[in-house]
Amino acid sequence: MRILSGIQPSGQLHIGNYFGMMQPMIRNMTEGELYVFIVNLHALTTVHDRQRLAGGTLEAAADFIALGLDPDQCTFWVQADVPEVTELTWILSTLTSMGLLERCHSYKDKIAKGIAPSHGLFSYPVLMAADILLYQAHRVPVGKGQKQHLEVARDIAQRFNSVFGEIFVVPEPVIEENVATVPGIDGQKMSKSYGNTIGIFLDEKELKKSVMSIVTDATPVDEPKDPEQCNLYTIFKLFAPADRLHEVHRLYVEGGAAYGYIKQELVALIRDYFKEAREKRSRLMADPGYLVRVLADGAAKAREKAAPTLAMVRDKVGLRYS
Ligand code: ADP
Ligand code: TRP
Repeated sequence: MRILSGIQPSGQLHIGNYFGMMQPMIRNMTEGELYVFIVNLHALTTVHDRQRLAGGTLEAAADFIALGLDPDQCTFWVQADVPEVTELTWILSTLTSMGLLERCHSYKDKIAKGIAPSHGLFSYPVLMAADILLYQAHRVPVGKGQKQHLEVARDIAQRFNSVFGEIFVVPEPVIEENVATVPGIDGQKMSKSYGNTIGIFLDEKELKKSVMSIVTDATPVDEPKDPEQCNLYTIFKLFAPADRLHEVHRLYVEGGAAYGYIKQELVALIRDYFKEAREKRSRLMADPGYLVRVLADGAAKAREKAAPTLAMVRDKVGLRYS
């Protein structure tokens, strides 16, 4: 079974990215053939700053490896280093209806937030479909926000198969229900583009600042509160050991949960949780040559998989004429 997922290098990675996508992918290393990539062509739809994109790409690579991804146990590369994907995108786009893309929430949300409505932004899901179909992936672990894009990829695969014959595996989304959406410090979905994130690798001062600004209600300490409605509790739950979580749950229900204390405890929990990864990340960032080599090896491995699929597609659609 091939398991595949990508992440944009468009900003500092946060705990929503970690629990929604990175951790499940890292766990998948032993489950099947794993494909993980940094989608810089997708990030180009919103980042037009050379340094941010190039630097963000290396940082995302360091983040993933520091958090436990072993490049020897998977295929790990940068999207644009496998140019086959852009050719497949074009071919798929000729079979993708405008209506399918017009229905995508993500495009509408992005332009509502002021991102320029470019053609690249609109056709983003077609590039994502090409990412998935080029490697014949069976399963694609993503957060809930990407579910519709997976449906688009399935739709395109089915349409292509019905017109040209069985070529593509129709991929299945894998959504981790218990961490489907990690809330941000303001209670909305945590997202780079909402400025409400808690970064994975913040320094102590920044971490404290983010956690202390988690929005909570004004219920007095002694009064009972519903933990499931509390943004702070939802984040606390991701890091606290089971016995402590049980205790804090009781304090919420019976009264006595003091938000300030819980926040301080959360700062320490997050710091400890990522301690080893933070150290490993500093070592990796000090040796960019190593990261570049790992990514080049990964791209070569990915191309070996991509080339035969693209050759078959070229043949089936009639681009091969000899
Ligand atoms: P962002 O919203 O911060 O820009 P991306 O859209 O780049 O994040 O998402 C990268 C991956 O992380 C995707 O699989 C996405 O579904 C997952 N993800 C992002 N934010 C969250 C979140 N708050 N909770 C769970 N998963 C998330
Ligand atoms: N669109 C995804 C996101 O923003 C990233 C992505 C690009 C992706 N190509 C993919 C995820 C292929 C899974 C599979 O999170």
